[in-house]
Amino acid sequence: MYTNIDFNNKTILITGGAGFIGSNLAFYFQNNFPLSQIVVFDCFRDGSTFENGNLKSFGHYKNLIGYKGDLICGDLNNISDLHKLNDYKFDFIFHQAAISDTRVYNQEIIMRTNVNSFYYLLELASKHNATVIYASSAATYGNLPPPQRIGSEDPENPYGFSKYMMDQIASSYSRKYPELKIVGLKFFNVYGPKEFYKAKTSSMVIQLGHQILKGMNPRLFFDSDKIYRDFVYIDDVIQGNIKACISKQNGVFNIGSGKPRSFEDIVNILQDKLKTNLSIEYFENPYTGYQSNTNADISLSYENFNYAPEFSLEMGISNYIPEIKETLNKPFD
Ligand SMILES: NC(=O)c1ccc[n+]([C@@H]2O[C@H](COP(=O)([O-])OP(=O)(O)OC[C@H]3O[C@@H](n4cnc5c(N)ncnc54)[C@H](O)[C@@H]3O)[C@@H](O)[C@H]2O)c1
Repeated sequence: MYTNIDFNNKTILITGGAGFIGSNLAFYFQNNFPLSQIVVFDCFRDGSTFENGNLKSFGHYKNLIGYKGDLICGDLNNISDLHKLNDYKFDFIFHQAAISDTRVYNQEIIMRTNVNSFYYLLELASKHNATVIYASSAATYGNLPPPQRIGSEDPENPYGFSKYMMDQIASSYSRKYPELKIVGLKFFNVYGPKEFYKAKTSSMVIQLGHQILKGMNPRLFFDSDKIYRDFVYIDDVIQGNIKACISKQNGVFNIGSGKPRSFEDIVNILQDKLKTNLSIEYFENPYTGYQSNTNADISLSYENFNYAPEFSLEMGISNYIPEIKETLNKPFD
């Protein structure tokens, strides 16, 4: 349960609730607090794509099969959709909706979607005195060397900048409404069940898992044994979201494992669990501005709300294997 908060009889908004992290949150509340009133707000996918060929939004109804709460199909960019939220009096707002694709370079649509709507949600929270937990990102650190610490950010892409701006806006709202609880969480590389519909933007854990299950040689960039990432399992991210509700202070906090691992580690663990011995095929990294090693300094998250990740990469992958197998030949649409 992570905290002593009784979410039963509380009204909880989850924006982006048809996506990866949001749908996991919705089921966390439904399963643990069956009397909570959950409201999912998400625009779902409509098939349209960005210039990079990826879908404009990844929300998928299949992430919500079994969900029993309320659903508002709405766009963060549509004020009349947002007005529908005024029918509720929220106790908690978990704001996950965003353009989550770090390789969208259309600055206008990223800022409009990720930043503008945040003001609306913060005003809504102030009217209801609702606790706000929102998704920031490790992308706010750009290429700063590890360990990444709160307070020195340097975003390198429009997505990272949009999250950086959300952190600034949250900070100014914390000053404007000192009684309001507003906590931002900088998620590092999240992996786990319900990320399948993110397709090419899903974690390397599922992408490499599928390559291996197809009998293909897992493909990695040259020098992947030297590229470290802070991979964090979805259950630890849910822990972070729930515990953030009891944070001693407003602010923004890292949510990672605190134990960076290489992409080669992922392949080795997958091969161990799947009992394969395929050789790795290396290729040139085509990306410029590729984030250097990441390692979340999670000391402030522990001090403020007792965040303590429980899943090693081995444990997380082990838990995840059944869904990696189950989604192998599933269509994305
Ligand atoms: N998964 C990660 O590794 C990671 C890392 C850092 C930060 N984050 C952040 O965490 C949050 C959740 O990420 P996720 O991995 O679940 O991504 P996701 O893409 O699966 O979820 C985002 C959801 O927002 C919805 N959405 C997008 N645009 C919308 C709009 N205009 N109006 C309404 N809904 C809209 C999508 O349909 C989707 O369901 C995002 O804010 C993301 O930026 C994720």
